[in-house]
Amino acid sequence: MDTHIFRGTLILFVATIFFTAVESQGYDYFDLEPAYLLSNNCPKECSCPPSFPRALYCENKGLKEVPPIPSRIWYLYLQNNEIEMLNEKQFSNATQLRWINLNKNKITSQSIEKNFFGAMKNVLYLFLEDNDLEEVPAPLPSSLEQLRLAKNKISKIPEGVFSNLENLTLLDLYQNKLTDGSFQADAFSGLKNLMQLNVAKNELKKMPAGLPSNTVQLYLDKNNIESIPDDYFNNVPRISFIRLNYNKLSDKGIPANVFNVTSLLDLQLSHNELATLPTVNGHLERLYLDHNKIKSK
Ligand SMILES: *[C@@H]1O[C@H](CO)[C@@H](O)[C@H](O)[C@H]1NC(C)=O
Ligand SMILES: *[C@@H]1O[C@H](CO)[C@@H](O)[C@H](O)[C@H]1NC(C)=O
Ligand SMILES: *[C@@H]1O[C@H](CO)[C@@H](O)[C@H](O)[C@H]1NC(C)=O
Repeated sequence: MDTHIFRGTLILFVATIFFTAVESQGYDYFDLEPAYLLSNNCPKECSCPPSFPRALYCENKGLKEVPPIPSRIWYLYLQNNEIEMLNEKQFSNATQLRWINLNKNKITSQSIEKNFFGAMKNVLYLFLEDNDLEEVPAPLPSSLEQLRLAKNKISKIPEGVFSNLENLTLLDLYQNKLTDGSFQADAFSGLKNLMQLNVAKNELKKMPAGLPSNTVQLYLDKNNIESIPDDYFNNVPRISFIRLNYNKLSDKGIPANVFNVTSLLDLQLSHNELATLPTVNGHLERLYLDHNKIKSK
């Protein structure tokens, strides 16, 4: 009798620990196939911490190929490897992926199978920084929220590639080979929720046309921009941060009231060729003007 009570209590106790642990992860374990809890089918090249059953960690392993991805995985970490090829076959079981980190690999535009990313229906974050891409991959999944393509050799943006990305909030094209001709006039149309656009360290001479209307942060440092069109910021009523350090802006390239924008909080114009102070709005909190030709009185 005593033993029975003890055993019952013990089972309850163990069950309580298990379910508390599960709840505290914030994961919905219960739609995982029960086999997972027994087998864990983790590719030998990777690690699968039991506390994060949706994550597959395969970074810094010198991998030349994508390992087999179990179907339960949402978060895939493959950064800092030597992966060259991406094809649908490798990812055929990985239909639930939310985050894909492929930063610092050897992926070229030619080595991505046609429609490879387009076929992914749930991906929110796609990181492809520091690879050898020459164009923005197309098509892209319409579910995307962040697209990081910095440090590639991108000079081409296929027509309409961003037009279905209604939930994209961040587009990072830092340090590529983009020129004014890379952007079609309507390249950004459809990016209804884009807040951060980074085209710094490219080869632009002009401001990109048709900024997404919800842009908050615009980074264009280290280009060769000489002038800004009149009323350029009138179509971006939430613009708060503008970085144009290391460009070729002179007084004649800056229309009288172009920076007199009430939403603007932070304006960076260091390392340009300005001789006079631009007109700014009283709401501005930070203005950077060092390394210009402004004479102190
Ligand atoms: C997909 O899953 C099936 C069944 O578990 C397995 O046989 C196959 O090797 C997997 N494919 C890949 C590419 O991981
Ligand atoms: C955009 O996000 C909303 C809200 O999360 C979601 O309902 C919608 O399906 C998403 N759009 C796409 C194309 O995934
Ligand atoms: C800045 O713009 C405001 C309207 O937003 C205007 O009233 C003001 O005169 C402008 N400042 C200058 C110096 O032109």
